[in-house]
Amino acid sequence: MSDEELMRRAQEARARAYAPYSGYAVGAAVLCADGAVVTAANVENASFGLSLCAERLALAAARTAGHGAPVALAVAANGPDVPLPCGACRQVAWELAPPTLRVLVAVADGTPERYVLRDLLPHPFAFGREGGPL
Ligand code: THU
Repeated sequence: MSDEELMRRAQEARARAYAPYSGYAVGAAVLCADGAVVTAANVENASFGLSLCAERLALAAARTAGHGAPVALAVAANGPDVPLPCGACRQVAWELAPPTLRVLVAVADGTPERYVLRDLLPHPFAFGREGGPL
């Protein structure tokens, strides 16, 4: 699947965000080793700290769907900045995806910026291991 198509899937997922408190809707799409795409969007809570990020939901859903390790993660939001995953989501990605995970970020209608997980999280909490799913 092309990066453009994966980003389209993230943008579609974004439309299903539940973000009544921040008004900031985020969509994520994970491309897995077997070619499957798993999507999610952020889900907020009246107890703000319980809000769930789109990326973490998509990575967890991809893992538990059993599609193999993530290859790419697309994230879509509506500015002002491109939606680089927060630090917690980077750490979760480091757990569930290889350091080579490609991360695509874009604001609506914008050209995706491309990153690699190892550059976004060069010094993870590693607990004595190399990263990627166990
Ligand atoms: N959010 C994400 O979905 N992903 C991130 O990487 C950072 C933030 C969500 C959480 C919350 O619902 C809203 O964006 C504002 O922080």
